[in-house]
Amino acid sequence: MQTHEIRERFTNHFVRSGHTEVPSASLILDDPTLLFVNAGMVPFKPYFLGQQTPPFENGTATSIQKCVRTLDIEEVGITTRHNTFFQMAGNFSFGQYFKEGAIKHAWSLLTGAVEDGGLGLDPERLWVTVFTEDDEAAQIWQNVIGVPSERIQRMGMEDNFWSMGVPGPCGPCSEIYYDRGPEYGNEGGPIADDNRYMEIWNLVFMESIRGAGDKKGGFEILGELPNKNIDTGLGIERVACILQGVDNVYETDLLRPVIDVAEQLSGTKYDAGTPADDVRFRVIADHSRTSMMIILDGVTPSNEGRGYILRRLLRRIIRSARLLGATGPVMQPLMETIMDTMTPSYPEIADNRDRILRVAMAEERAFSKTLESGTHRFDETAAALKSAGGTQISGEQAFELHDTYGFPIDLTLEMAREAGLDVDMDAFHASMEEQRARAKADNKAKKMGNRDDSLYREWVDANPTQFVGFDELTHSANVIGLVRDGEKVGEVTAGDEVEVILDVTPMYAEAGGQMADRGRIVVGDTVLNVNDVQKIGKKLWVHKATVQNGGLDLGQTVTAEVDEAWRHGARQAHTATHLIHAALREVLGPTAVQAGSLNKPGYLRFDFNYTEQLTDAQLEEIATITNQAVDADFAVNTIETSLEEAKAMGAMALFGENYGDQVRVVEIGGPFSIELCGGTHVSHSSQIGPVAVLGESSVGSGARRIEAYSGLESFRYFSKEAALASGLAAELKTPTDQLPERIAQLTERLRAAEKEVENLHRQQLLSNTGAIVAGAQELANGRKLAAVHLPEGINTGDLRTMASDIRGKFGAADAVVVLASKAGGKAAFAIAATEAAVDAGIKAGELVAAFGSHVGGKGGGKPDLAQGSGNNPEGIDAGLAALREQLDA
Ligand code: SER
Repeated sequence: MQTHEIRERFTNHFVRSGHTEVPSASLILDDPTLLFVNAGMVPFKPYFLGQQTPPFENGTATSIQKCVRTLDIEEVGITTRHNTFFQMAGNFSFGQYFKEGAIKHAWSLLTGAVEDGGLGLDPERLWVTVFTEDDEAAQIWQNVIGVPSERIQRMGMEDNFWSMGVPGPCGPCSEIYYDRGPEYGNEGGPIADDNRYMEIWNLVFMESIRGAGDKKGGFEILGELPNKNIDTGLGIERVACILQGVDNVYETDLLRPVIDVAEQLSGTKYDAGTPADDVRFRVIADHSRTSMMIILDGVTPSNEGRGYILRRLLRRIIRSARLLGATGPVMQPLMETIMDTMTPSYPEIADNRDRILRVAMAEERAFSKTLESGTHRFDETAAALKSAGGTQISGEQAFELHDTYGFPIDLTLEMAREAGLDVDMDAFHASMEEQRARAKADNKAKKMGNRDDSLYREWVDANPTQFVGFDELTHSANVIGLVRDGEKVGEVTAGDEVEVILDVTPMYAEAGGQMADRGRIVVGDTVLNVNDVQKIGKKLWVHKATVQNGGLDLGQTVTAEVDEAWRHGARQAHTATHLIHAALREVLGPTAVQAGSLNKPGYLRFDFNYTEQLTDAQLEEIATITNQAVDADFAVNTIETSLEEAKAMGAMALFGENYGDQVRVVEIGGPFSIELCGGTHVSHSSQIGPVAVLGESSVGSGARRIEAYSGLESFRYFSKEAALASGLAAELKTPTDQLPERIAQLTERLRAAEKEVENLHRQQLLSNTGAIVAGAQELANGRKLAAVHLPEGINTGDLRTMASDIRGKFGAADAVVVLASKAGGKAAFAIAATEAAVDAGIKAGELVAAFGSHVGGKGGGKPDLAQGSGNNPEGIDAGLAALREQLDA
């Protein structure tokens, strides 16, 4: 029975008995405890906890949820049943039926006849387990269903008490196993052998809430859930494995075609008696599907979180394929195959084929380079280590592979294992930590003059600065701290470079990509120009300033003023950044995730994760959408709210960013753009003025950057471009819109003319041999020698023709012709000898060899005509001089 059909039968079985069919949620749900959805119940968590009323007619539901579990990634392909992606089919009851209902439903589907919509499993082969203390479940299995008591086994907390692994809903569970027969292992039920007896369905009697702790150490049961619920999970892949009569989940109908393709790509056979190879095939099949499904849900490869898992999966595929013998790219055929097999159950794949391929293939390209250089380095390291009798790769070596060669540590570990080595992980982590600390110190040093933050601690603790700059640009303030040359001082005077700490300030400190305000601190005749404002501990504003005039004392009351023009420009740029972000996602889809930004008056740049260069058309569209949003004069609203509320509004937050409980949401044009942001903005989008998108570029692997001007700066840019174009148009006497063709024409003509000149030049040289004959030297022994260093650019062939031509002009005389030229960065040369010279013992071939030794090359030919070339054209003159001497002897 095909996998798609098993899915259908499952859903129909439960829909028939009144369950609401719920589509699979995305693999990526907003649950901070999970990287990926890893069980069917995850989307239903609020209903179990009683936080929300389940919106299902009968209080029951059924789903087939996409799940990813990567904890067991090392097990993939080694055991027969571990998939990193799998489909968990479940039925859920929220306070409706409980143990007996769940058990009956499961049994009737599993053992029901195929013609009645069941799965037709032999009841004699089914075994069940229950939680040690759960007499009720054991009694239902035995008395209501009729499972003989010897096929009902009891297990403890670790196996038969289910929770998400973290505080939350939990309860005892009962699992159903299928006996695959003696060829798969020992008798004795699931307790004895969980390979022969394969778990297919877990029924969780979800009734409690647990606290912190792990399974082994135990956790506290904090209390009962408001209802007694049912959560079940049947592994579709495992049932398919049984019903299709195959050995393992990797050979089922959806994955086996990937193995076939991998066989073709690698030229190696699956199941040919080499277990290590078979594991690689299975890894390829499993990981191809998982990566494809993760990309489908919007993840792109990166170095952290989900992106890192995806990267690791893709890289394991590539490496396994290489180890099997594949030499070229493999990603495209693998991805295409798995997309084909999965599309009937997930039709949305069809619309995303190109994107999925793009992401996977870009990673393959990037990794191939890494793999080549890193593997080479690894092999060297391993060989040196082994020949010295060592068994452990040091932390520094692993760190070098990571830092210089881009080898993820997991890869180093895997390769080490294969080479029979291990890795000093403690030392590796120590090196990583050192690097992190260095980077942090570097960053700080750049911003804060590499100084000890403890200087500010007292102020941070006692007097966080009050920021009033969202509403006001000028405010009176008290000077509560002065720092000069890294020391606290009581007063500062004209010319000093200082740091001023105020109790209140309207000046924006650099944050969230927006550069700090410029401004002034004034009192009486005293003026300080503020060049930068930095925050310490998110609380204290440090104004870096130059005392322009007068002096300032600690405790004085001053006026702090933001430079209005600066702020106006910063607001324009920052709001423009949000518009570009929104436009970008509209054009590229939600996978273009922000990676960083910078905005200052008139200019912005925006970095985002994306693996491909944007096309001109995409850039044009982004620019158009952005400027249309300006033109629409959208209201820009800021809302202070809770993080939860903000996410519910759909606000985009930066992954990995630490937000407080209260956050600020900036909303532009309703749903057009909603972001968490602490920056300053214009109040209507039209105040930004035009946005000139300058272009895009790459900033490291997998990230790209868009740059743009905003406001008047855009106008200046456009008008400069326009002036340039009209200047060119006037110069070329062409209307501006015809400039491109005109320039193309001119370039074409120029190229043709250059060729022509080159030809003429050559011809002239070739025909002008008379001068060379006339200029020949007569040597002391009566021999004529024409040895000439010709102008640059004449190749060996032409030199040969010329030399032979000149030789002819010497007639019966004893004469030698030597011609050399620098051509294409090399020395080209040809030597000809007249018949009389040859009779006198001259061999052009030998002369060429002698000449060659001066220009780092060699050559060959006959006694009367030979030629050659060398790498060192600087040696031509010396070569000619040496020949002259030799021939005169
Ligand atoms: N939540 C349980 C599991 O994941 C049953 O669906 O096994």
